Amino acid sequence: MPAWNVNVTFGGEKRRRYLKVAVLGLGACIIWPSWPYFVNSATSAPRGEIHSRASDLRVTLPAAAVLDVGSAPAEPSAVQILVPLLCAIIPVAYWWYVLVPFKRRELAASKRKGDMKEYLQDLAIAPAQERKPERWLFDKYLREAKLIEAGEASGLPKAVQTVEAGLQEQLPGGNAQFGVRVSPPADPSMEKAPLLPLPAGESSIAPSWPVVQPPEPAYSTLNDCQTCLRCPSAYGCGCCSTLCYATLGLVVFALFLVLYPFVAALALVLLLLFGWLAGSVMVYLACLRPPPALVWKGAKLLQLTRLTFYQLPKAAEWRVTDLKPKAKLTTGLLQYAIAVRVPFLSEDELYAGGLFESLVRLAPSAEFMTSSMFFSAPPAISSLSSFREGENPVEYGMEVCRDIYPKVVQEWKDKTSDRALAHFCLHGLGAHRLEKADPSLHTGCAYVVRTNQLAALPVRDGFEHYGNDVYFDKDFKVVKIVREEQVEPWEMPRSTTFLPDGSRTWEYAKFCFRSSLFSFVTLVDHLYGCHLQLANVVVQAMREQLSSDHPIRRFLLPFSYGTININDLARQTLVTRDSFVPQLLPLDNEGLQLAWASAYKLLPPEYVLDTASGSEGPMELMETLFDREKVIKRKQEQGLDTSYYQQALRYWRILRKFVADYLDHYYGTGSRGEMALAADEELKLFLLQTVTQLQAFSDPFSTGQVHELWPSVPNSRKKLIFINFLTRFCELVTVGHEQVGQVQAYAQDASFCAFSWSKSLRQEGPLVGPKEVALGGALLMALTSTPMPRLLAQSPTDDWSHVFPAMSEGDRAKIFGDFQSELRKFSTECDEYNATAAERPFPNDFGLWVFNPKFLETSVSI
Ligand SMILES: [Fe+2]
Repeated sequence: MPAWNVNVTFGGEKRRRYLKVAVLGLGACIIWPSWPYFVNSATSAPRGEIHSRASDLRVTLPAAAVLDVGSAPAEPSAVQILVPLLCAIIPVAYWWYVLVPFKRRELAASKRKGDMKEYLQDLAIAPAQERKPERWLFDKYLREAKLIEAGEASGLPKAVQTVEAGLQEQLPGGNAQFGVRVSPPADPSMEKAPLLPLPAGESSIAPSWPVVQPPEPAYSTLNDCQTCLRCPSAYGCGCCSTLCYATLGLVVFALFLVLYPFVAALALVLLLLFGWLAGSVMVYLACLRPPPALVWKGAKLLQLTRLTFYQLPKAAEWRVTDLKPKAKLTTGLLQYAIAVRVPFLSEDELYAGGLFESLVRLAPSAEFMTSSMFFSAPPAISSLSSFREGENPVEYGMEVCRDIYPKVVQEWKDKTSDRALAHFCLHGLGAHRLEKADPSLHTGCAYVVRTNQLAALPVRDGFEHYGNDVYFDKDFKVVKIVREEQVEPWEMPRSTTFLPDGSRTWEYAKFCFRSSLFSFVTLVDHLYGCHLQLANVVVQAMREQLSSDHPIRRFLLPFSYGTININDLARQTLVTRDSFVPQLLPLDNEGLQLAWASAYKLLPPEYVLDTASGSEGPMELMETLFDREKVIKRKQEQGLDTSYYQQALRYWRILRKFVADYLDHYYGTGSRGEMALAADEELKLFLLQTVTQLQAFSDPFSTGQVHELWPSVPNSRKKLIFINFLTRFCELVTVGHEQVGQVQAYAQDASFCAFSWSKSLRQEGPLVGPKEVALGGALLMALTSTPMPRLLAQSPTDDWSHVFPAMSEGDRAKIFGDFQSELRKFSTECDEYNATAAERPFPNDFGLWVFNPKFLETSVSI
């Protein structure tokens, strides 16, 4: 087993590199403010006068002047020494850090596709007796491009190549310069071997890179500090909290008084040193289009700062008196999508967030963040840098995201084999998109996961389009992958079928499928379906129709926590043209418009109601929309009785019982309870506003038929609809969101899943997304993983039951306690399911994490 190292080295080279940059930066800082002094002192009048008189032979110089010039010791100032020194250092630094790496990248690109490639090809086909010196000189490049296959020469040529290879590593742009240690395999025959051992009988030419578990994120440290300073509980002086806070405040005030002169002096020095630079950067960001790499670095810095000052939500501290009254919310229109409006984040309630959120709320307008005054959209990623053969993409992404990357819950020991593909579709990201295949059209196929719906979306030049449907037999062995090719509108549809023959082409087809599904689920199921449709519409209707003391508004408080804030941030930074997600996708502007406009039709099959048959009326359609148990049972009857749906049904029943118990307690049981529920006017308007605003289902409901039919619906049926409606919302923002948003393991590894990749990857290169996309994908994952309140209370601060109106404390504790007890039992079952995974036969020999309550949060997060 080769000694691959998954940890990035932060010592040695990297420290020296930082030191060099610091010295150069310091030099620049010194010369900048002192330049005028240097110029003035070098051209001052007295010196010029002496020089002038000394050079004029007709003038008789006074003895003092001659003595002054001739015998005075050389006293160059520090500035005079520093300037020529920096004049030498800065060009060298420019050559070392900018010019050479740029030229190396240019050469690498040319070797892949350009003049150098053509030159090497000419050289390779030249007769053996000709162009020998050139062959010797470019021997390494010819071998790397696989243009010659003869054995390597031994002796001096080999020694020269070894020295040259070492130089390449050490020179600017080489790996040694960036502190990334990619240990080469000891044995050349292991070059393409998978990093993780594959199960017996499996083979794959694509390596599976191990998951890297990041350390605790930045916010944990600060929150420990906050807990420590929590007054008065931390000190046990609960008798007088005011005095405790006042004492601490006095200490802070005293410190401020003592430190003020130093802080003010330091601020002034920093302003003098860096003010010009900071001003230039602001002008640059506001007026020009900074390169994507710079934008991503800025995003990382922003998230690091945000997490450092982020306040972990503590449900026990919520106060119902802080809830905002029922009112029409001010909203912003979602770009691209049809008629989707998102409330401004200033409308949110209770959401604490942190320093970042506080500053954003101070902004002069809701659109300030994305206005040109503050943010200039960067150009989309266009230059693509390939990973080298054997270079670890997980390590590459985690080098940048280590401090802000969320915890990775899923365990993937094998990512690229055919077995892993089955696990990906049955237990992973494809589990909710698994469908029965039609065996009359696809012989020997029983199941399918589709992404060819995206195949026709136009992409930018040089990028590969999305697509690929993967078919499995009844035992979940992969049968084939069908790729729909992009054709002109007037051409016949054309598809390519790939068979599991272990070839590179087959591996490419699998990579395309995984990446397409990853992008599909992120864009459609997560961002659109979960955030901007159901969560957005329900929370908006809740705030506009339910009073702050309404029992359902109180019940939904944990499940709607932070939703407005998060969705508005998503609207402004993830959906808007040229923002983070569009930058990473291969789609051009037309492709993005098409994707968003048709997003509701691209949702998973059970979301899209079958209105064409006309067999079900509007009320039945609405019941089917919310009754998850009915949908799951229908799937099981069709033959989709997978572990995913078994756990989904178990969780649904726990959640539904919690909702039903709560409604029974507040409205009463039996016909009296049904009547009270049906008579609740606010609740009725809440439901009707939701169903008419859901874009995906607006067709059957927009005519107002539900409104007309609602009065004639029996009370018992209304109660069932209310129970399923509330349960469906709570289910979707918890496990539904977890299924589509728990993508840490996928986003961490661009060879597992990538948002976009080059078209040329079909023919050549390691099967991994470009470095820019790898970095962007990992950063996007980190940016969109803000912690939310926990569903399963794991500490007293997680208890939100106090927000429920209840007849007595005992009733409240019982409803919440029963729910928590059921969740805890289910969590143990999920743990056991994962612990015994290896004992089960294929394809169920894999874990399921998305339903385990101990990992779930109460509301959506980005
Ligand atoms: Fe999310």
